[in-house]
Amino acid sequence: MTTDWLEWHHQYDASDSSLSGRLAVVRRDLRRALVEAPCDEGGSRSLISICAGDGRDVLPVLAEQDGGGQVRACLIELDPTLSQRARTTADDLGLPGVRVRTADAGATDTYLGLPPAHVLLACGVFGNITADDVRRTVATLPGLLAPGGIVIWTRAGRSTGHDPSQDVRSWFTDHGFTELSFTRPARHPFRVGMNRLDADPRPLTPGTRMFTFV
Ligand SMILES: C[S@@+](CC[C@H](N)C(=O)[O-])C[C@H]1O[C@@H](n2cnc3c(N)ncnc32)[C@H](O)[C@@H]1O
Repeated sequence: MTTDWLEWHHQYDASDSSLSGRLAVVRRDLRRALVEAPCDEGGSRSLISICAGDGRDVLPVLAEQDGGGQVRACLIELDPTLSQRARTTADDLGLPGVRVRTADAGATDTYLGLPPAHVLLACGVFGNITADDVRRTVATLPGLLAPGGIVIWTRAGRSTGHDPSQDVRSWFTDHGFTELSFTRPARHPFRVGMNRLDADPRPLTPGTRMFTFV
């Protein structure tokens, strides 16, 4: 059975849901990343959000913090209704630096021509793909990032037994990332990580697949 992602977004309607709690943490970490991430010579930053949904994590934070339009953001979302919602929200918030692509974020060809990201979000992705795909995606991220680029990612965790978010943390370390923060709330099962690329970025290999939703 495939997930109805429009329906899934209704979990955000309840302010006490785990997803709403996760959203608050992702926005908090994004505010920090937009201060700490490197920028280009003109002071602007490039941001990529993969599997962006309706963009509610990124867009309000840009509206708060990016009055000068210094962030060029590309949101990549496969579902045309959700990507159109993100476009409409970006217009309503007056964010001319935001582009929304209705495209497959799992294919490296989708990123050809995009500037390396100073900030990249992978939220709601790693719990919907196989462990091998998570590992492959983490290994590919240095090809999407500028030196020192910051990744914000999420994964559901477990309080007993093996917690899969621990694997994600170690894969980031294996691929040259330094952990800047890791949030594991007591009340909710989500985890939010923030990691900075401290190894050299690698060229992106065209024509390859990072992940497929299962
Ligand atoms: C769990 S939701 C997360 C949405 C958003 N990042 C958030 O955290 O609110 C996963 C999203 O990924 C999208 N998606 C699934 N496969 C995709 C793909 N190959 N490329 C781009 N988006 C995809 C779905 O349509 C859905 O909106």
